[in-house]
Amino acid sequence: MRAAISLLMLLFSICGAQTRSTRSTEVSAQLDVSAELKELRDMVVEQRVILRYTQDNVKVLEAENVAVAVRLAVSETKVQTLERALQDTKAEMKTEVDNLKKENAAQETELTAVKTRLAATETEVENLEKEIKAAPKVAFSAGLGKSGNTVAGSNVLNLVFSRVITNVGQAYSSTTGFFTAPISGVYYFRFTVMDYLDNRGMAIRMYKNGRNGSGSLMDLYEYDADGKPSILSSGLTLQLEKGEAVNMVLPAGYRLYDDTFNRSTFSGFLLFPL
Ligand SMILES: *[C@@H]1O[C@H](CO)[C@@H](O)[C@H](O)[C@H]1NC(C)=O
Repeated sequence: MRAAISLLMLLFSICGAQTRSTRSTEVSAQLDVSAELKELRDMVVEQRVILRYTQDNVKVLEAENVAVAVRLAVSETKVQTLERALQDTKAEMKTEVDNLKKENAAQETELTAVKTRLAATETEVENLEKEIKAAPKVAFSAGLGKSGNTVAGSNVLNLVFSRVITNVGQAYSSTTGFFTAPISGVYYFRFTVMDYLDNRGMAIRMYKNGRNGSGSLMDLYEYDADGKPSILSSGLTLQLEKGEAVNMVLPAGYRLYDDTFNRSTFSGFLLFPL
C-alpha cells in the first residue's frame, strides 16, 4: 500500500515537473527522470522482495493458522470429551450420593430397630432382676421333735416335724407337717428317719398332695434285729404347681424315733421357679 502511494506521488511530481519545465531545462529534466525511473525500478524491486517476504510470511502465518485451527479443533474435542466425562462423573456422583442416602436411611432404620430391641432387652433384664429379687426364697428343715416313738395306729399317720431348724419362706407348716409350694417350680425334698429295730421293720413314705393313703411318691422299708439305731434316708426332686403339697407319711402300724438329737428330719427347698 505504501509502495503504491509512493509510486502515485512520484508520477504526480513528474507531471508537475513537466508542466513547470522550460525548454532550457529539458535535458537536465530528462536526466532527472531517468534517475528517478531507476530509483523507482529499484523501489519496485525492493517492494517485490518485501512482497515476496510478506507472502512467505503470510504463508507461514496461514500454516500456523491451520496448525492453530487443528489444535483448536483438538482442544474443542478434548473439551467436549471432558464435558462428557464431567457429566458422567456428575451422574455417577449423584447415583453414589443417592445410594449412600439410601444406605444411610437403611442404617438409621436398623439403628432404630436395634435401639428398640435394646430397650426391650433392658426392660427384660430389669424384669428378670425384679423377678429374681421377687422370687420366693424357700428352704426348710425340721425334726420330728418328739422325744421317743411316734407311732401310727391302724391308719397311716401324717408326720408332723415340729422342731423347726430352718423355715425360710414359711412354706413348711410345723403344725400340719405339710410343705405347700408358694410358686410353681422344681423343688428338692429329703428325709432321714430312725428307729431302734429289734426284730421289726420300719417304713416311711413321701406323699404329693396326699392325705390318708393316696398320693405316695416313695415307700421305703427297713428291717433289723439288733435293737440298735437303723436309718432310712432318701430324697426326690419334684416339679410342683403353686399350691401343691408334699409331706411324709408313716404307714399303719409303724413307728419312728426322735429326740433332741434330731434323728428324724424332713427337709426341702426350691431349686428354681418354672
Ligand atoms: C436339733 O435342732 C434344734 C433346732 O434347730 C437345735 O436347737 C438343736 O441344737 C439340735 N440338736 C442337736 C443335737 O444338734
